[in-house]
Amino acid sequence: MTVTTESTSLRLSGPAGSWDLSACTAPFESAVTLPAVCYTDPAFFAAEVETIFRGDWVCIGRADEVPEPGDYACVDMVGEPMVMVRGEDRALRVFSSVCRHRSMPVASGAGNARSLVCPYHAWTYDLTGRLVGAPEMGKTPGFDAKSVCLPEIRHAVWFGFVMVNLDGQAAPFAPPLAPLETRVAHWRLDEMHSVDHYAFDYPWNWKVMIDNYIECYHHPTIHGKSLEPSMPGRASYFEPEEGPFSIMQMPYRKGHRPTDPRRPGDDAPRLPLIETLSEDELSRGATLQILPTLLVSLYPTHMDYYCMFPEDPSRLRLRKSFCVLPEQMAHPDYQAGIEQTTANYLKYAPEDFGVCRGLQSGLSAGLSRPSRYCPMEVGDWRFAKYVAERVTGA
Ligand code: FES
Ligand SMILES: [Fe+2]
Repeated sequence: MTVTTESTSLRLSGPAGSWDLSACTAPFESAVTLPAVCYTDPAFFAAEVETIFRGDWVCIGRADEVPEPGDYACVDMVGEPMVMVRGEDRALRVFSSVCRHRSMPVASGAGNARSLVCPYHAWTYDLTGRLVGAPEMGKTPGFDAKSVCLPEIRHAVWFGFVMVNLDGQAAPFAPPLAPLETRVAHWRLDEMHSVDHYAFDYPWNWKVMIDNYIECYHHPTIHGKSLEPSMPGRASYFEPEEGPFSIMQMPYRKGHRPTDPRRPGDDAPRLPLIETLSEDELSRGATLQILPTLLVSLYPTHMDYYCMFPEDPSRLRLRKSFCVLPEQMAHPDYQAGIEQTTANYLKYAPEDFGVCRGLQSGLSAGLSRPSRYCPMEVGDWRFAKYVAERVTGA
């Protein structure tokens, strides 16, 4: 299959893994978007699972979801069930939840337990993953229970986000993100509590979701009545820092800042402001993409983020979580404020979801073609470049 654009030819033929995506990794001024096959082809998705979801760091949640010893929370990332556990020593660990007997997941959902007991034959694992009980197995010649444990999955906690690297081979997570640390410091992300979660199951490729999230080019059209009046898309800009991330600033329109005593058309209750933010930080929202999948929005009143769990080329489980600081939760306006914040999200998010649905159907059409980028799509270019380089090993 050959995909031709105005200026470039992309060779996509050959066995899985032989995609030539060099036109997507070109400098921004001449690059083109990823071709549709990258959003629809099962072989390309399989390559992404290996090189990105297993080979890089992906977010599975926040450490504050398991605050106390015995707390656990399960997720399934690209078919790999895992459980995040807080041990008696208060250390957070992430294990494969696949039982070492006959592979039944030993836990589901979230809760608190002194041990993880497989629901099938009751093999029992302590909070450090060691097998501490296996009914009747003492009669099995040579079976050494002490040598059995749930495989631990490499993880890192960065400002409260729990990141995992399934193949254990990625470079350390935090060092390349050092330039971001001063950008987020005043939000005190590692002190935040996750207070509200929304789970979605959607029929589009995981990259469609990200492509849409990291540009404001679409705000005047898609969010003309919701976001645009307070946060004009054309005022958005990218910070110059280089690294495996993009930082997009979204200044508020004058008269719509959360600090303004009464914003036009808005008499809804609000979350209390985060007191440690600077004047400048109070004047805008920001979105961070930490490559590949962690999407974080920073506002003067809270942080929210998406966690992504792709299922196949056109199916994505998505979780949106809202996080605030303890002193905000203690404020009398908190309850009304968080309800208004999440209601607002649930009002404008379907605008984006409608776009994602349309994009997936367009990308599945035979006549879809790669395009040049608008200057407001720098984040999309960085992301496409990352995907192309990971998958092709360029
Ligand atoms: S599969 Fe877990 S105890 Fe048998
Ligand atoms: Fe949007």
